[in-house]
Amino acid sequence: MTKNVTVEKSKTSKIHDVDFDNLSFGSVYTDHMLVCDYVDGAWQTPKVIPYQPISLDPSAKIFHYGQSIFEGMKAYKDENGKAWLFRPLENFKRFNKSAKRLAIPELPESHFMDGLTTLLQVEKDWIPQNPGSSLYVRPFILASGNGFHASPADEYKFIIACAPSGAYFSGKVKVLIEEKYSRAANGGVGYAKAGGNYAGQFYPTQLAVEKGYQQVIWTDDNTHEYIEEAGAMNIFVRINDTLITGPTSDRILDGITRKSILQIAEDQGIATEVRKITVSEVVEAAKNGSLKEMFGAGTAAVVSPIAAFGYQGTDYELPELEQSYASQLKQYITDIQNNRIEDKFDWRYPV
Ligand code: COI
Repeated sequence: MTKNVTVEKSKTSKIHDVDFDNLSFGSVYTDHMLVCDYVDGAWQTPKVIPYQPISLDPSAKIFHYGQSIFEGMKAYKDENGKAWLFRPLENFKRFNKSAKRLAIPELPESHFMDGLTTLLQVEKDWIPQNPGSSLYVRPFILASGNGFHASPADEYKFIIACAPSGAYFSGKVKVLIEEKYSRAANGGVGYAKAGGNYAGQFYPTQLAVEKGYQQVIWTDDNTHEYIEEAGAMNIFVRINDTLITGPTSDRILDGITRKSILQIAEDQGIATEVRKITVSEVVEAAKNGSLKEMFGAGTAAVVSPIAAFGYQGTDYELPELEQSYASQLKQYITDIQNNRIEDKFDWRYPV
């Protein structure tokens, strides 16, 4: 354990109350959390403490102006009981990009990485070993400083909480291509993992759920002619044998699963294109049979195949493939994450 992080152990453990064979996603939490305060203009020493509620003044700026960011990561345990993270430095870099955009003071790398690894060493027994399960790790920062003045807070809390988790979605999802609402705009915060980006998705998603879909496919805010993201994930479309995803931008999150999938696909000889995808080409490809697959990619869901999409009142079914890119790529990335195959890209990170 690093000397840059203090550790106060919990006197009791909840671990025996948890059914590790039937884990849902992100709904039970481990015995400890990491907390690090930003006060007097500096990030203080991170502390691992027993998992507990936090106390905030009702005037804390998080409640009024939504000044908060988060990351999503997973820790895995291999068959020898060794624990691993997947590309955590990428999460750290994106965390600080999000922080900058939300006027939150950037966090030193050692606070993030030492805090993360110390917490995970303490919580090692909580990392599930069952196939398809992992410890979902949620680093976040919230504005704890007080004041109704609409300006950045002067105090913040960086917290990491962990939840042993199973699959985010069970099975394939049916999605609705959005024609009215949008999740991001040029010059906005779409590329950042700002809490409010997700809150803004809830209402359009509820409307889609009422119509029988599980998720929304976000289109560009200006014309709604381009497909951009799938729910809280990046989106991939396979037309014939080419795998296509949109370029990252102000509006599209630089997903770590997204870029890993692209690299794996290229390495496996799959033709890839990073370019804008129009709704009309996807509809046309669905009509003429060249649309083979669509899937979402993100940390929580990993690779989430899409069974059908709705657009302008019509549903388009995707074919059932025996050998899909989605299952091939998901298998490969989870094999790397769980230390089942050689890590030729150097993505695994020991805890
Ligand atoms: C993740 O994939 O980790 C995300 O950030 C999505 C989250 C909203 C569950």
